[in-house]
Amino acid sequence: MRLGILTGGGDCPGLNCVIRSVVVVNLRKGTETVGIRRGWRGLIEGEFVNVTPEMVAGTHNQGGTILGSSRTNPFKDPSHVEKLKENWKAAGLDGLIAVGGEDTLSVSEALNREGLNVISVPKTIDNDVGTTDFSFGFHTAVGVITDAIDRLRTTAEAHDRIIVLEVMGRQSGWLATYAGIAGGADLILVPERPFDFEEVVKELDKRFQRGRNFANVVVAEGAKPKGMKDFVTQSKDVDEFGHVQLGGIGEYLARELNSRMGIDTRAVILGHIQRGGPPAPFDRVLATRLGVRAAELAHEGVWGVMVALRGLDMVPIPLGEVKGKVNELREDFYQVAELFFG
Ligand code: F6P
Repeated sequence: MRLGILTGGGDCPGLNCVIRSVVVVNLRKGTETVGIRRGWRGLIEGEFVNVTPEMVAGTHNQGGTILGSSRTNPFKDPSHVEKLKENWKAAGLDGLIAVGGEDTLSVSEALNREGLNVISVPKTIDNDVGTTDFSFGFHTAVGVITDAIDRLRTTAEAHDRIIVLEVMGRQSGWLATYAGIAGGADLILVPERPFDFEEVVKELDKRFQRGRNFANVVVAEGAKPKGMKDFVTQSKDVDEFGHVQLGGIGEYLARELNSRMGIDTRAVILGHIQRGGPPAPFDRVLATRLGVRAAELAHEGVWGVMVALRGLDMVPIPLGEVKGKVNELREDFYQVAELFFG
């Protein structure tokens, strides 16, 4: 058997743990691991590499992905799908493990329907892939954000400021809320709950009335004020899956708070720092278990599934059931965070 593996979409810590696990399972079964460079682009362009145990040794603590990644969508152009299939055949692939977020998953699902053997492994720091309790990368990013909140707290206090921290989270407020709870944020704004400026000001005002001289606000990049149709973006360009480049809601909010409250307010955009660096232990273990289970399923001939974390178990879920499912922030998590606002 020849088993391929690729990593697609935005990178996240733990990708190398998955690759390493697949190589280790394959090694024990006497199977070669065919690495595909830069996500789906590598299958369209025929960029393959034999992933040896030496290549993955010691990569469990390295961020990024040794295979590279891209946001290439083969279905943008029918000739690319044809090319992909030709290269698949030429490489003698029996199946593929595609590690990625919702976009990679949607391609996996479509290719599987066209008769290619694909298994998906969910990754995203945003934790927005549906049907799995957590995606790897999320806990590492939460650690980075929590550290940032801790640091911003002391400088905000020293200067009697409001500091708005903008974090990733295109369609889900998991990162903002989870790290906000861990870091004791004074207000958290998320995509799932469009906000009202008057209420934001009222909430923060209560805090200053109580004699506190500073506030830490965490805002997800996908959060919007009520009534605003479009996201605040860096540019209007869209990627091959139709996503705009988000960013700027933090600055926007800081300007509004400054003018409405008359308090010195600064914005910090944490950006890609959230996606880089070594994976946290939780993510290393999760990514390793996902990779092992995905490779085992391939050897068992179970295709067309995504491996999900359900409780403590690794559960194969049919790709058709995962497609389009967003893991929205759970209300009860936000309610816990809210108890500490103001
Ligand atoms: O991977 C998801 C994500 O982290 C989003 O939260 C963010 O909007 C996006 O990636 C940014 O990715 P890039 O700048 O690499 O396109």
